[in-house]
Amino acid sequence: MQWRRRHCCTHTAKLLYLLSLLGVLVFLVHQVWLPRFAGMPWWRGNPVVYGGPHTTKVKGNTSTQHLGWRFVIVPEPTFKADSNISSSEKLQVNPSFVNTLAANTSQSEVHLRDTITQGPFPYVINEPDKCAANKPAVFLVLLIATEARQVEARNAIRQTWGNESVTPAVGFIRLFLLGKKEGELGLLQQRMLQAESQRHHDIIQQDFLDSYKNLTIKTLMGMNWVAMHCPQASYVMKTDSDMFVNTEYLIYKLLRPELKPKNNYFTGNNMRGFAPNRNKNSKWYMPPELYPSEKYPTFCSGTGYVFSKDMAGKIYQASLSIHHLHLEDVYVGICLAKLRIEPTPPPNEFLFNHWRVTYSSCKYSHLITSHGFHPNELLKYWHHLQSNKHNACINTFKERAGRTHSNRINVEKPAK
Ligand SMILES: *[C@@H]1O[C@H](CO)[C@@H](O)[C@H](O)[C@H]1NC(C)=O
Ligand SMILES: *[C@@H]1O[C@H](CO)[C@@H](O)[C@H](O)[C@H]1NC(C)=O
Ligand SMILES: *[C@@H]1O[C@H](CO)[C@@H](O)[C@H](O)[C@H]1NC(C)=O
Ligand SMILES: *[C@@H]1O[C@H](CO)[C@@H](O)[C@H](O)[C@H]1NC(C)=O
Ligand SMILES: *[C@@H]1O[C@H](CO)[C@@H](O)[C@H](O)[C@H]1NC(C)=O
Repeated sequence: MQWRRRHCCTHTAKLLYLLSLLGVLVFLVHQVWLPRFAGMPWWRGNPVVYGGPHTTKVKGNTSTQHLGWRFVIVPEPTFKADSNISSSEKLQVNPSFVNTLAANTSQSEVHLRDTITQGPFPYVINEPDKCAANKPAVFLVLLIATEARQVEARNAIRQTWGNESVTPAVGFIRLFLLGKKEGELGLLQQRMLQAESQRHHDIIQQDFLDSYKNLTIKTLMGMNWVAMHCPQASYVMKTDSDMFVNTEYLIYKLLRPELKPKNNYFTGNNMRGFAPNRNKNSKWYMPPELYPSEKYPTFCSGTGYVFSKDMAGKIYQASLSIHHLHLEDVYVGICLAKLRIEPTPPPNEFLFNHWRVTYSSCKYSHLITSHGFHPNELLKYWHHLQSNKHNACINTFKERAGRTHSNRINVEKPAK
């Protein structure tokens, strides 16, 4: 006891110094290392990788054993969007599928608002004035694919990353995208949805059957809405209702409102050189009749991608002459290929995660998306992150040190 009292002050000072050093260390380790082993391995939840004999056919004979250890597989593409290979060779698809791939972009830039109509399906619920009425002016539009029954998820998003007061100085709006369900249950859900819409004014819905296979229609509805009703926005993000999105990090660190807004910009978790899944039992099966080519153009995982607002109209326009495929992210990638716009890789590969990253305030304060959240978890982690925002990484270390009753370096490997 006496010994402790005498040395307590110097020890405390040393300890604090050590803690802050280790905090920095842990932070760096997290940034550079841990996400590789955190959360789901990359191949789970991936729409295209397990696809029988075609999947490993990537250029340069990249060995598959290596791929298994990579965080994001990035086989070299066999083409570049602006290389001299004609686009029809690039996609190897029949002409009726992508007609005249030599896209007439000059045309699509002119008078988009005049040429774009709302599309084949009428709105059931719309918010045509939401963007114009918003104060401060809308910088970002969040388009969130959801279904009528996911009320809890929508409410959690409203209270967390979709709450417009997360960034009081920079305006963003959230819109939930829905189709319609059939039957008795559909009618009941529709009545509840109308009430929800009255209350929150953040729902748009068109009269198409709401199904997984119609996700492409849903996404295009959102793109169309932006082109028609929100041309003043700078950026758009399309994401899902089971996602964690760090809106603040997205706005201030990636999009940077102080800079001139970009054009022809599209980013997210870049899926490069992927092959269509030919396993008929898979959710991501792609019939060769619909997509004969052995490789998809680069696309961004549908769990979260971000683009400059001009792309909304351009992609919508391109979609008018491209046969719909049910995999919406692949489909948007094909539209981009037609437009000859290659997705930009994000500044680092840990920002857009299409699997779930193990939670820590440190990691979550430096990423943009993480996938697979129950609404309750979203609330829990969000509140934790908010209350630890300003020392997100130091606290992580303290918690660990406390838990292990040790002030030695003790960097645990997080559980899978
Ligand atoms: C790929 O590599 C293996 C072993 O390195 C070799 O046997 C095979 O011929 C290569 N295939 C191609 C297409 O280059
Ligand atoms: C691109 O292709 C065209 C037509 O095939 C050809 O005339 C031209 O020389 C090519 N350009 C380059 C840079 O290879
Ligand atoms: C592209 O646009 C130009 C001018 O608007 C037009 O003359 C030309 O026919 C168009 N080409 C295609 C392939 O649509
Ligand atoms: C959004 O955040 C503000 C400020 O933190 C809070 O007052 C408001 O209740 C939140 N909105 C929702 C729907 O939770
Ligand atoms: C997509 O929606 C349309 C319009 O409601 C419907 O006719 C079609 O059956 C739906 N497709 C699927 C695969 O659900």
